[in-house]
Order: sequence, then structure tokens, then C-alpha cells
Amino acid sequence: MTYKILISDPISDTGLAALKASETVELNVQTELTKEELVKIIGNYDGLIVRSQTQVDAAIIEAADHLRVIGRAGVGVDNIDLDAATKAGILVINAPDGNTISAAEHTMAMMTALSRQIPDACKSLKEGRWERKKFKGVELFKKTFGVVGFGRIGMEVAKRAKAYQMNILAYDPFLTDEKARRAGVTKATLDEIYTQADFITVHTPLTKETHHLIGAEAFNKMKADVRLINCARGGIIDELALYQAIKEGKVAGAAIDVFENEPPENHPLLTLPQVIATPHLGASTVEAQEKVARAVSEEILQIFNGEPAQHA
Ligand code: NAD
Ligand code: MLT
Repeated sequence: MTYKILISDPISDTGLAALKASETVELNVQTELTKEELVKIIGNYDGLIVRSQTQVDAAIIEAADHLRVIGRAGVGVDNIDLDAATKAGILVINAPDGNTISAAEHTMAMMTALSRQIPDACKSLKEGRWERKKFKGVELFKKTFGVVGFGRIGMEVAKRAKAYQMNILAYDPFLTDEKARRAGVTKATLDEIYTQADFITVHTPLTKETHHLIGAEAFNKMKADVRLINCARGGIIDELALYQAIKEGKVAGAAIDVFENEPPENHPLLTLPQVIATPHLGASTVEAQEKVARAVSEEILQIFNGEPAQHA
């Protein structure tokens, strides 16, 4: 029996070694498909591997007559209609820890770049200027750092922030006193984070509960020189409310890796000098991409061999 697997987003070639070596798998890589093209061909496949670009919606799932498994080479499965997949009996697996370190490192890179205005200072210098007064930053040392969502990435971010000697407040509905103590952070409420933090980073999934979790009401409670970082999912922070809060001087700056609609078009946040941004690069390292591709490849092979899924 040969299983046909479609790869519809760019995935690390090295990480696909197990699938390539398998005699029972036929791989097809097509990363520029339109939705209509995908609907037309998905019925030929037993497996689909995506990153975050392909939106696997109900129409695609309805057309996927033979699909047994969708592998998400990454963490967030918010680009996959899970209800439709479950109804259709299609397993959805992800690679929950392959990109944790890369996403945590990117968060720290964004926070430090924001605090010292590195992107604009670099641009100014490359354009021939020497503007030392303009680019005065702030230290992270002894600052209060609010971490909203204390899962894999939130915890790794906290570990790194401790090396900067930041005072860390963490909020997560599942954070116990014992876990907070072991991690060397203070368990806090969202309001405590809003009123005390100098920097706030979000690391929750995007769900109905976390959509616009941080919006106008939260900004009104924050310190005026607060800086926000979102390397989790667009939509956890209300983007238009953030724009307004920065314009009104309620928020000093923001570092944004992810947007509610990607790629963002004529986005107001991208017009503000107080905002630095990257195009969803949190997991874009050689190491993370190999790890997530290897993890989904190996698990898909196990599923086709009749073994139970580990990350469904
Ligand atoms: P995780 O599941 O390990 O951790 C998420 C944490 O959020 C959990 O501890 C959960 O209890 C907590 N949480 C859920 N609802 C919450 C709420 N309402 N308030 C506070 N906390 C809440 O996930 P992770 O691997 O740490 O990933 C975190 C986020 O980062 C996800 O959105 C993921 O998609 C995203 N991510 C982005 C990139 C990127 O490229 N920018 C890379 C990897 C992951
Ligand atoms: C994820 O959820 O894993 C990230 O968005 C990373 C990615 O898919 O590139």
C-alpha cells in the first residue's frame, strides 16, 4: 500500500528524511496552490503537511475524501478547522516543542531590539546618519516583565529574562504556586501584570477566550511607558486598540511578529515609529524547521503503521 502525502507549505527538506526514505509513501510538494487548486486535488491524498500558510478550512476538508491525517509542522493549529476535521474523522497532529527555543529566542531578540530601537538606529546609520541622541533606549535590568501564557515558550522566555535580572510576573490559568516557585517567577493576575509591568509578552494560543485578550480596557490600566511583545498569535492583542493606545501615549512601544491577517496589508501599526515588526519569523530557524518537520514526518509514518497518534 502506498500513502500519498501532500506538502502545501515550505517545510525543511532535511526534516522530511523519514518520509522520503519510506517505501510506502509518495510525497508531493506544492507550496503555491490556491485554495481552489487545493480543493481540486486534496481528494487524492492520505496525508497533508502544512505550516501556518495553508488555511485548511471546511471546504478543503469536505473535499478530502481519503485524508487520514493533517500534520502541522509547528505549534498553533488555528489555521486548521478542527471541528470539521474531527467530524470527517481526520486526525490533526502538531509538533508542539520543536520550535519552542527559536520562538523564545525571537521574543528576547524582539524585546531587546525594541528597548534599544535597533531596527531604526541601523536603518538611520545605513542611510548615512549618525543620530546618537535620537536613539536613547531603556534597560531591561530590574524591570518588571509580565508573561501572559506560561506554557513551553512563556517558560523559556522567563528563563532568559531571568538572566537579564528582570522581575517576572506570570499569568496562566494552569500555573500553580509550586510551578511558579520552581521557575523563579511570581504568579500574578492579569490586572497585576497590567498595572505593574514595564514589558508584557503574550504566549497563549489564539482561542475564543484569548482573542483580543489585551485591548483598550487593559491599555488603560497599564503604565504609560509599557512595551508589548507579541510573538504568539495575531489577534491576542487587539491591533487597532494597540495602535490607538500608542498614538495616545498610553503604550510606549510594541514588537510584533504575528498579525491577525497575514500578510498584513496597509497595517496602521506598521506606520508607527514606536513599533518594530517581523513577518512571523518566531520559528524560522534552521534548527526549529528541521525539528518540526522531523517530528510530524515520523508521527505520520507511525500513524500509517497503525500506531496511536501522540500529538493529536
Ligand atoms: P503551550 O501550549 O505550551 O503554552 C500555551 C499556554 O497558554 C498554556 O500554558 C496555557 O495554559 C496558556 N493559556 C491558555 N489560555 C490562556 C489564557 N486565557 N490566559 C493565559 N494563558 C493561557 O504553547 P507554546 O508552544 O508555548 O506556544 C505559545 C504560542 O506561541 C501559541 O500561540 C503558538 O501558536 C505560538 N507560536 C508562535 C511562533 C511564531 O513563529 N511566532 C512559534 C511557535 C509558537
Ligand atoms: C507555530 O505555531 O508553530 C508558529 O506559528 C510557527 C510557524 O508555523 O512558523
